[in-house]
Amino acid sequence: MKQEKEWVIEAEHISYTYEGNDKPALSDMTLKIRRGSRVAFMGGNGSGKSTFFLCLNGIRKPDAGRVLIDGEPVSYTRKGLLDVRRRVGIVFQEPDDQLFSAGVYQEISFGILNLGVEEEKARKEVERVIQELGIRPFQERPAHALSGGQKKLVAIADILVMDPEVMILDEPASSLDPKHTKIVRGIVEGLTERGITVLMATHDMDYAFGWADEIVLMHEGSVLKSGAPLEVCSDREALEKANLEVPAVLRLYEKMREKGMVSLEGGVPKTMEELERRLV
Ligand SMILES: Nc1ncnc2c1ncn2[C@@H]1O[C@H](COP(=O)(O)OP(=O)(O)OP(=O)(O)O)[C@@H](O)[C@H]1O
Ligand SMILES: [Mg+2]
Repeated sequence: MKQEKEWVIEAEHISYTYEGNDKPALSDMTLKIRRGSRVAFMGGNGSGKSTFFLCLNGIRKPDAGRVLIDGEPVSYTRKGLLDVRRRVGIVFQEPDDQLFSAGVYQEISFGILNLGVEEEKARKEVERVIQELGIRPFQERPAHALSGGQKKLVAIADILVMDPEVMILDEPASSLDPKHTKIVRGIVEGLTERGITVLMATHDMDYAFGWADEIVLMHEGSVLKSGAPLEVCSDREALEKANLEVPAVLRLYEKMREKGMVSLEGGVPKTMEELERRLV
């Protein structure tokens, strides 16, 4: 059996400037992603999160530096790119950039059939994902005639059905209502349990703090700080620079600890529910 490498993705000194821009979107960015981990990407608008993601599955080719998947540099040939896209699935921030306006069912089947999965198996997978995400009521509609949130769900289904090794979600909760945010978060939990590496851009610090193994703070096209959530969130200066707030649970825990209102056993709680359980 092929020996699995510890790092599923490595970006080495990558830079990228969009055509016509004078400022780079990514600037000498270096980062390693551990296999099976959950990594939250955070940072202000325009800090380079989406561009970084696009470089990870070959949609954008860095002007300098390189990206390795499973230890192998990405090959920008047709075959190489197909292979990268099989392994690294990305749900775009804007579903309109991803969906090609077929019927929803056809849209979700397209990618998996393209990978050469046998039709009967593909159909089963598509059905499963449609059910899981609650897409059934609008599965016959053309994708362009859906609401923003419905489009987002279809975009997620599109990638989920291909069962990638690495799943990148670029602000999956934007335009989803609380019910569907919860559904998507539940699905993300399931992915991690199956050993899939999940990279997610989010502006929701409270969620990232509870969910992530690692938080990557981005600023002006490179990594300002990365590490365990508590480590990153204890660096107030870095948070401020990245336009981010301290997670509510951390702020509250610190206040309550000063007043002796909370049990110290178990360290810093990750969620409000955990904090609640620790009240004395
Ligand atoms: N298609 C594009 N053409 C030209 N410039 C772009 C394009 N996409 C992004 N940029 C620029 O590249 C920089 C990085 O943008 P990027 O979309 O990667 O940031 P982001 O961190 O994802 O931001 P947000 O939180 O708003 O999604 C910005 O300065 C942006 O204006
Ligand atoms: Mg973005």
